[in-house]
Amino acid sequence: MIIDILTLFPEAFSYLDNSILKRAKESGLLEINIHDIRDFSLDKHKKCDDYPFGGGAGMLMSVQPIYDAVNNVLTDHSKIVMPSPSGEKLSVTLAQELSKEEHLIFICGHYEGIDHRVNEIFNPLEVSIGDYVLTGGELPAMVIIDTISRFIEGVISSESLSEESFSNGLLEYPQYTRPANFMGYKVPDVLLSGNHAEVDNWRKEQSLKKTMEKRPDLLKK
Ligand code: ADE
Repeated sequence: MIIDILTLFPEAFSYLDNSILKRAKESGLLEINIHDIRDFSLDKHKKCDDYPFGGGAGMLMSVQPIYDAVNNVLTDHSKIVMPSPSGEKLSVTLAQELSKEEHLIFICGHYEGIDHRVNEIFNPLEVSIGDYVLTGGELPAMVIIDTISRFIEGVISSESLSEESFSNGLLEYPQYTRPANFMGYKVPDVLLSGNHAEVDNWRKEQSLKKTMEKRPDLLKK
């Protein structure tokens, strides 16, 4: 998958150079290119924002630099995503769908928002990461990209994906690693038993118990 990110804050994306995403990029499963929207501004001072028509608080990102930045990377196979609090809520289902795309373009807004003509021209898929407002689209874009990347075949083992929270509508069971006894805090005996059927049963039970305690709303679904 190729992901092009359009932003006024390219330096914010250094997080994507770590750990699993770094490995995905090195193994060729994922290519991430970051573009500074400012480079596309035709203004002599590289200005990318302006006051909203009709008045109101703050500044809006202007249409021209974004229009040119999108067209610089747009192909017949591109899907354009715009992080926005008014978008479709990010979910496992949406992330899985997006992970099948060949090419994603992320438009990251900042300040009070983006000139609406960007939406009229490109009709991006607006995606929200929750009912709260962040100062820009950069953090949400990273959250969305991280979530999607884990579903790209080869990035994470299919066993990890099938066991994790939300994959079967439940939260994941508790996990332990060595030592078996830390200051008297012991790992449950069943996990040391070597009996795979019993381990499986215990994990299913724990998953259900944890979901009932922490997220009963998931069971209603
Ligand atoms: N931009 C600002 N707030 C956001 C949110 N909650 N989700 C996605 N993009 C946003």
